[in-house]
Amino acid sequence: MLESFMFHHIGIAVKSIDDTAAIYVAGGYTCSEAIFDPIQNVNICWLTKEGMPTVELLAPQDEHSPVNRILEKNGVIPYHTCYIVDNVEDAVKELRKMKYVMVSKPEEAVAINNCRVCFLFNKNIGLIELVEAPANI
Ligand code: NI
Repeated sequence: MLESFMFHHIGIAVKSIDDTAAIYVAGGYTCSEAIFDPIQNVNICWLTKEGMPTVELLAPQDEHSPVNRILEKNGVIPYHTCYIVDNVEDAVKELRKMKYVMVSKPEEAVAINNCRVCFLFNKNIGLIELVEAPANI
């Protein structure tokens, strides 16, 4: 965590986007169309509601999706938080000094307007995602 981080979303591993999204929609959230993310091999949808944190649902595309491991171990569960940064490399450099380990290198993510994203893990924080983006995404 760096002082300049801006919160973007919480990511929830789900078995079925439709089953989970329906519960949020009943609570007043708006659900985006599902988007296939080839990097993580998942289908993603965004749930938004004014004044509430944005929620990302990630469901496995097939048995090779990494998110299956999370679902097998924990069931449906929030498993990452995402923050906007100005520059991914600079943020990663600082976080490595703080014992964060890179889980996936920066790559363009179709689910977030082709912004560059990467994942890091710290045993006292868990999994975080960084997105290099203008603040208006
Ligand atoms: Ni995410």
